[in-house]
Amino acid sequence: MVESASSRKDGKVVAIVAAAGAGHRLGADRPKAFVRVGDYTLLQHTLRRIDASTAVDEIIIMASFEMCATAQEQARELSLSTPMRVFPGGVLRSDSIYEGLKYLMRDDADETVGIVLIHDAARCFAPTELFTEVTEKVRALMAEDIAAGVIPVLPMVDTVKMVDSADNVLGTPDRTRLRRVQTPQGFDAKLLWTVHQAAKDEELTTTDDATLLEKYQLGVATVPGSEEAFKITTPTDLRLAQLLADEECEG
Ligand code: CTP
Ligand code: MG
Repeated sequence: MVESASSRKDGKVVAIVAAAGAGHRLGADRPKAFVRVGDYTLLQHTLRRIDASTAVDEIIIMASFEMCATAQEQARELSLSTPMRVFPGGVLRSDSIYEGLKYLMRDDADETVGIVLIHDAARCFAPTELFTEVTEKVRALMAEDIAAGVIPVLPMVDTVKMVDSADNVLGTPDRTRLRRVQTPQGFDAKLLWTVHQAAKDEELTTTDDATLLEKYQLGVATVPGSEEAFKITTPTDLRLAQLLADEECEG
């Protein structure tokens, strides 16, 4: 059973939703998180699924400065039961997460944050259970004093090649040892904030948060991911998203 925030002594669980990207590869007429699929925008699909997880006590949305008011409005429309706040993100995804963590880990915060879940708004069909499973795994590792993050992964379906700068094949990594990585990624909040600050000092940037832990020789554990947690990146992905949204309307 997932404990509620009030019954826990190890701090609340906060989901940071990264929604501050432009969505260049999607090429829509607005930032990707605000594109509508079926009845909801990508941001709203994401928020609905997180809100349904009893594991998450609070949601922080990172939106570009220009889209903060829209994000606030779209979240409000959903009448979420989970407390939510919107903040401006940064130029890179890692900057957006840094800004969210900076707010959460500020000295004068009235409640301690125990666990953070970092999630892409672009993975808007990631199922509610995934948030719960990742949180439970992080909590289990913390109980054993293991400093590690938790990421959802799936097996590779394609063979992957390593190429040189001229695109000629250098080799073929063993596919059975490769995984596709998704979000939500879960962390001991203090640990993630520490590595984000170190990375900022070193001007290190990464496309996911687990990579930061790897850079500092910290462990990263995995849980089984979900095909529905795929990232909407291209127009083809959006067509698949439309199918899922249609199914949701019918169901
Ligand atoms: N993101 C963010 N802040 C940024 C850049 C990205 O919060 N400065 C978020 C995006 O909104 C998205 C997630 O990180 O939900 C994953 O990034 P990606 O799929 O690359 O989204 P975009 O950066 O928006 O897309 P593109 O790279 O095609 O422009
Ligand atoms: Mg991007």
